Amino acid sequence: MALRTIRQAGDTILTKKCRPVTAFDARLHTLLDDMHETLIHAGGVGLAAPQVGILRRVCLVMDVSKEDLSEDEQIVELINPEIIETSGEQTGYEGCLSVPGMYGIVTRPDHVKVRAQDRNGSWFEYEGDELVARAFCHETDHLDGHLFSELTDELLTEEQIAEIEQEQTE
Ligand code: CO
Repeated sequence: MALRTIRQAGDTILTKKCRPVTAFDARLHTLLDDMHETLIHAGGVGLAAPQVGILRRVCLVMDVSKEDLSEDEQIVELINPEIIETSGEQTGYEGCLSVPGMYGIVTRPDHVKVRAQDRNGSWFEYEGDELVARAFCHETDHLDGHLFSELTDELLTEEQIAEIEQEQTE
């Protein structure tokens, strides 16, 4: 396994639409293994292939609701994912490993069901709530060349968010 470089906002690769995966081979497995390591090292909750420079429909989402599992075991591998059901609504801060240190308020569904293939090509369905639902939307958006920053009015640093929250409690 190897760490891959995470592309930063401004890199045009992040604006491109990814092609479907057709070969479930050793090359895909190496990409997935490298993405696992890169995601855990970066401390994120999701990572999409274009963020490591690969224009294929591959992403990882960490199911943080599975608190008894290790970080690596929490990772759900999604190949050619499609969101097939959404419900509810949540509004809150969202960030991205390609936009480090910046957060913005984004409204997303509160419950999301995805259909995707695993690393061997078998189709499965997976459901998530709250942060997991948010991550499913965020990561599948990456596969179509979209960043969360398109969905928010302003980007703020952690310090700015802390100041706003401080003002609200006063
Ligand atoms: Co992202």
